[in-house]
Amino acid sequence: MVSRVIPVEPFDLVIFGGTGDLARRKILPGLFRRFVAGQMPREARVVGAARSELDVGAFQAMAREAVEEEVPRRDGAELDAFIERLGYVQIDATGEQGWSELAFRMREGVVRAFYFSVAPGLFGALAERLHGHGVAGPDARIVVEKPFGRDLASARALNATLAEHFSEGQIYRIDHYLGKETVQNLMAVRFGNMLFEPLWNAQYVDHIQITVAETVGVAGRGAYYDQAGAMRDMVQNHLMQLLCLIAMEPPARFEPDAVRDEKLKVIRSLDPVEPYHIVRGQYDRSEECPSYRADVDGLRSRTESFAALKVHISNWRWAGTPFYLRTGKRLKARTSEIAVVFKDAPHSIFGVEGGRHRNVLSIRLQPNEGMTLHVTIKEPGPGGMRLVDVPLDMSFAEALGPEAEDIPDAYERLIMDVIRGNQTLFMRGDEVEAAWAWTDPLIAGWEARGDVPKPYEQGSAGPEDAAVLMYREGRKWREIKA
Ligand SMILES: NC(=O)c1ccc[n+]([C@@H]2O[C@H](COP(=O)([O-])OP(=O)(O)OC[C@H]3O[C@@H](n4cnc5c(N)ncnc54)[C@H](OP(=O)(O)O)[C@@H]3O)[C@@H](O)[C@H]2O)c1
Repeated sequence: MVSRVIPVEPFDLVIFGGTGDLARRKILPGLFRRFVAGQMPREARVVGAARSELDVGAFQAMAREAVEEEVPRRDGAELDAFIERLGYVQIDATGEQGWSELAFRMREGVVRAFYFSVAPGLFGALAERLHGHGVAGPDARIVVEKPFGRDLASARALNATLAEHFSEGQIYRIDHYLGKETVQNLMAVRFGNMLFEPLWNAQYVDHIQITVAETVGVAGRGAYYDQAGAMRDMVQNHLMQLLCLIAMEPPARFEPDAVRDEKLKVIRSLDPVEPYHIVRGQYDRSEECPSYRADVDGLRSRTESFAALKVHISNWRWAGTPFYLRTGKRLKARTSEIAVVFKDAPHSIFGVEGGRHRNVLSIRLQPNEGMTLHVTIKEPGPGGMRLVDVPLDMSFAEALGPEAEDIPDAYERLIMDVIRGNQTLFMRGDEVEAAWAWTDPLIAGWEARGDVPKPYEQGSAGPEDAAVLMYREGRKWREIKA
């Protein structure tokens, strides 16, 4: 029922930054899983590229260790067969070393893809050399990791640099949230069913909540994170993409530009956010863990590790319906959820005793991917009409059984989409720029005001002010729970 695997065309995939954290934790293990699933053809080749002086054996040993760590259940022979397909080139993105060898390694007649899994400062240099050394022709694809710029000006500059060497159809800007099964299911639920779409508007929806909560802090990535903060690191990309998918108009077809045109319209319809509709927070120290400021080694840091916002979309479908976005680190549980909270029934025939009941459609991205529709029924038993809300629960694991384990993770799916040449789940340059154009004034606003993030307890749901953002309008955040 789940895995109808369609093998992709033979390919050469070069991972710049092949020795880095992302390659070891996500890209290489993901490729191995696709190899086992039969999607990565036997003729495919993967080449790691970085400055480290490694021979191919040492790179293969590193890759083997990485896969063993991330894929506990595996077949030794299959792992051997996968590892044989890995090569390595020592290369410097900013120099001339290694480029002729890389050009020599590329085969004719196969898809060529280049994954930029290096610091963003190297994206431009890589694009330039790939083109300059004739390694990437007009059919090649490049995969660009986040962050894509840190504001509109830098995103524009990066788009312009990439555009000097590659057409938009060759550029795959990754937002791994878009590769999650449930995120795509969101489109299936909205546009594959008659049930929801007629209700999917301001007339029937009271508000929508999007929460991406993490339990980890920023230790280890402090230097990067303190320059970014929750707004740049999470809201501008992941939460914004989720907002687009939940709010967009039905595209005419499930095709890359049709979908991305509709997402872009949502971003362009976002109102500026009032300062009192933004709550920023920073986690305090706990008994076990240091504070945010200690983690980033910045005692005066004003960067937020938590952000909550109330957002409005000015279009016919959503005028008047608020969208509440919230994300943070060191929160109570690791969970990502979108909740569509419907309005009260216009008139309750059960009177006040019936209480207030609202349908909520909750879409869980992680953990336990699935959906729950909360419906109101009569509480069983005699003694009058008391109403109770019960969940119609669909977890992928339960609905699909053991096969749910074979669902590819986000990176696996997205890499295969690159090879297939399908850009639907990747951000287009104008989308990224529009997202920054909306984000920049919010950041500039709190910087100009000198706002200091509110401290919050580790293991909580964020600062109290975030709860107040909802309470003052008679609404409530959904509980953050795993
Ligand atoms: N790690 C994650 O979970 C994650 C999540 C989302 C996005 N990202 C993004 O993914 C990218 C990679 O992140 P990462 O965590 O894997 O970084 P990382 O662990 O620091 O790895 C960086 C890689 O780049 C290579 N490198 C550095 N300078 C180079 C140069 N001049 N020429 C060629 N290779 C060079 C490094 O190898 P050598 O030192 O041997 O050259 C290493 O393989 C970044 O853009 C990051 O923002 C990462």
